[in-house]
Amino acid sequence: METQAPTASFTVIPNRRPATDEERWLAMEDPVFGKVFTDHMARATWREGDGWADRRIVPLAPIPLHPAAAVLHYAQQAFEGLKAYRWADGSIKLFRPEANAARLAASCRRMALPEVSEEDFLAAVEGLVEVDQNWVSGTDGASLYLRPTVIATEASLLVQPAAEVDLLVTASPVGAYMGAAGEGVSIWVSRGYHRANPGGTGDTKTAGNYAASMLPQKEAKEHGCSQVLFLDAREDTYVEELGGMNLVAVRADGSVLTPRLTGTILPGVTRDSILTLLRDEGRTVEERDIALSELVEGMESGEIVELFACGTAAVVTPIARLVSDDLDVSVPERSEDDGPSVAETMRVRLTDIQYGRAEDPHGWVREVVPAPEG
Ligand code: COI
Repeated sequence: METQAPTASFTVIPNRRPATDEERWLAMEDPVFGKVFTDHMARATWREGDGWADRRIVPLAPIPLHPAAAVLHYAQQAFEGLKAYRWADGSIKLFRPEANAARLAASCRRMALPEVSEEDFLAAVEGLVEVDQNWVSGTDGASLYLRPTVIATEASLLVQPAAEVDLLVTASPVGAYMGAAGEGVSIWVSRGYHRANPGGTGDTKTAGNYAASMLPQKEAKEHGCSQVLFLDAREDTYVEELGGMNLVAVRADGSVLTPRLTGTILPGVTRDSILTLLRDEGRTVEERDIALSELVEGMESGEIVELFACGTAAVVTPIARLVSDDLDVSVPERSEDDGPSVAETMRVRLTDIQYGRAEDPHGWVREVVPAPEG
C-alpha cells in the first residue's frame, strides 16, 4: 500500500511489520550508539543522464548490492550525521539541517558524486523522522541520530565516477557517544599516522577518512583512550582533529583556541555552533594553527585549563588527558570554586537550544513534527 508522501517528493511505503511498542521501548531504553535502527529508511536513486528519481521512504531492510559496486572497491561515498530532538511539548525539531545539506553537497562534489539538493536532503530526513516519530525519545539527552549516505552502486571496476548512485538515510535512537556527560576522557595522540593531507579529503565527510582512522583508533583503545587525536601531515606538529570530532582548548583568561579550517579538518556543524555561542558570550575565539607542544606546555603551566571535543555524536565531551608514547599530560584539576567549566556551560547552552529549553537566537532549530494539539 502506498500513501501520500509527508513531503512533496518522497513516497511512503509503510513497514507492515514495525517494531511493537514493547520492542521499541526496550530498544530505546539504553541504546548503544548506532546499533539500533528505526522501522524505515529514506532512499533515492540517481542515474547518469536521468538525475535523481525514485524518492521513497521504505521499510528498513538490507539493500541488494552487486559485489562489484564501486563503493565497495573505491569508497566513492559521502555521508552526514544530524539529530532530531523531542521537545517537552511533544514536537520534534532538527538542528541546522541546512548546514548538513550544504556539507553533504560539498562532500559529494569532492567525491565526484551527484549532489543531493537541499530540498531533497530535507525532504528525505524530515519524511523519515515524520514516519518514525515514535522512535524520538523524550528522555533527557536522548535523540534520533540521522545518517544520510550517498554511495556509488554501479557495478564497475573502472576507477571513474559511477553512473548509478543511491542516497540512503537511516535513523538510530541514541544517547551519549563517549561516556557520560561531565566525565573527562583520555585521548591518544597518534604519532605514526595522519588523518588527512593538503588537497586530500580531510575537509569532507567521506568513508575513507574514517577507515584510515580505525587502526590509530584501535591503538588509542589499547592505551586506555577513548579517541585518537591527529597531527597535521605536512609538519607533524599541529593538532588537527580527533577521529570523528573537533578539538577546542580554553585558556586561563577565558579565551578559546581551536585549529583553523585548513582544508584538512572537517568543518563541524557543532564546532561552528559552539564557536558562535562562545563569541555571543563575548569570549575571544582564535582559530589558528596550534602546535601540540603549545597545548602540552599550556596544560603543564596552567595556561590551558580545559580541552574538549565537539561533534554531532559527541556533543561536547571534556578531555582530561593527552597520552602518547612519549607523553602523558592532564588538564589541571578543577575545584568547586572554579564554577562550571566552559565545556559544561557550552554543552548546556547548546542542548538547551536543541531541546527547546532556551531561546534560539540564530534560528538554528527547524520543526519537523508540531506539538500535538490540546
Ligand atoms: C558525527 O558526529 O555525526 C559523526 O559522524 C562522527 C562519528 C564518529 C559518529
